[in-house]
Amino acid sequence: MVSPHDRFDFVVAANRLPVDREVDDDGVTHWQTSPGGLVTAMDAVMQDRTACWLGWAGDPGEDVAPFDRNGVRLHPIGLSTEDVRGHYEGFSNETLWPLYHDVIVPPRFRRSWWASYQRVNTRFAQAISEVANTGATVWVHDYQLQLVPAMLRSLRPDLRIGWFNHIPFPPVELFGQLPWRHSVLRGLLGADFLGFQRTNDAANFTRACHQLLGTSSTGDVISWRGADDGRIGAEPRRVRTASVPISIDFTAMEELARTPAVRRRSREIRASLGNPRTVLLGIDRLDYTKGIRHRLRAISELFADGDIAAPEVTLLQIATPSRERVSAYQDLRSQVDGQVGRINGDHSGIGATAVHYLHHAYPKEEMAALFQAADVLLVTPLRDGMNLVAKEYVASRWDGRGALVLSEFTGAAQELNSAFLCNPHDIAGLKGTILTAMREDPASLRKRMLAMRRRVRSHDVHAWAQRYLTALEAAPGKPGRG
Ligand code: F6P
Repeated sequence: MVSPHDRFDFVVAANRLPVDREVDDDGVTHWQTSPGGLVTAMDAVMQDRTACWLGWAGDPGEDVAPFDRNGVRLHPIGLSTEDVRGHYEGFSNETLWPLYHDVIVPPRFRRSWWASYQRVNTRFAQAISEVANTGATVWVHDYQLQLVPAMLRSLRPDLRIGWFNHIPFPPVELFGQLPWRHSVLRGLLGADFLGFQRTNDAANFTRACHQLLGTSSTGDVISWRGADDGRIGAEPRRVRTASVPISIDFTAMEELARTPAVRRRSREIRASLGNPRTVLLGIDRLDYTKGIRHRLRAISELFADGDIAAPEVTLLQIATPSRERVSAYQDLRSQVDGQVGRINGDHSGIGATAVHYLHHAYPKEEMAALFQAADVLLVTPLRDGMNLVAKEYVASRWDGRGALVLSEFTGAAQELNSAFLCNPHDIAGLKGTILTAMREDPASLRKRMLAMRRRVRSHDVHAWAQRYLTALEAAPGKPGRG
């Protein structure tokens, strides 16, 4: 029985709940499990504890009463239309997202969005403080909630607080543009442990703290004398930072990819494409960070140069709709629509389509079938915290076949160094890398794929969550601890 007074030993806070709210034509609310990797990781660590997950339900609306699902309490935080605009679309995705991804598009700094970001972070901190048991562990996720650690610490100093950044943390030369840079750093330094995808992200954060707040550090521990409200306190707090790269559920993905239904579907996909000699595949959220325009430019030139031709070679590009009310995403969509139209106009024939372009989201089963239908997966972001699609592809290729072209600017490239690494800004280089991947002999492709599979298998999402929680538990935190 759900009681609003229940308290939990383990609390997760993320911008989104692991379920999305859908209201049907009769006004009845349904909750659909969202397919993200975070859900799987948290499922595993939440099962043996009394656990609660706080997050937004994905559309504007009032707070909904908490409810239980698979033994976990889900606690929706309702956001008004103004806060969806100011916190989610505005400050999170028009200010922080471009700033943290190397300013591929210019970040917008608006004071009303900052006010909304503070308001929503306060709501989360207050709600967490009401559900967390004495001494509970709280795991806060991502750039949408960077003020929560310090806000929560001032409400509940007894808690063990961790934060994990799913996206890059930029160099101080870019981060320093943010008008509210001190507040964001102070917000994060309320945590005991801060986890990042790459060692460079952790180093960028530490450098920003030194330069902008005057902190000092020993090894991976930052010493911070400022109180959470910015005043200088006598006792230094110690905050550990480390890289803990996120991963996927390797076994579940491989098992899915091995099912007869998925194998059949992958043959069907190839047949529907006209059984080409080479299927090139791209699967991305339609986001300007993913390098889709650079990839299409390279593909267009390969067709124009005569290095590839339909129907023997075709590109299947899946672009999942994302953040569709944000103007940079609307612009990207028209640009990609235009590029695909031009390539097909110039290089397709009847029954010989150069680029198959689908603007849809697909379930995991279809993704597994698409991965198996592909000869080469093209993952070409200009900047990406990790890129789990690359890891899912590797897990799906139990047959040891397939090639991965992977941007150097992804977190995944640090682990998957047997991929065909590329710089997506270098169009000539990218074209060459795609051709090399297409032409590599099967024995050598197999060797590369097996090496990548070993890495992802041994560093899966369960290992990631365990590593993170062990580091959080061991973090020094308060003076005298650790
Ligand atoms: O990994 C970054 C991230 O913003 C996550 O927080 C989120 O789950 C994903 O990308 C998709 O973004 P959104 O929640 O804005 O649809």
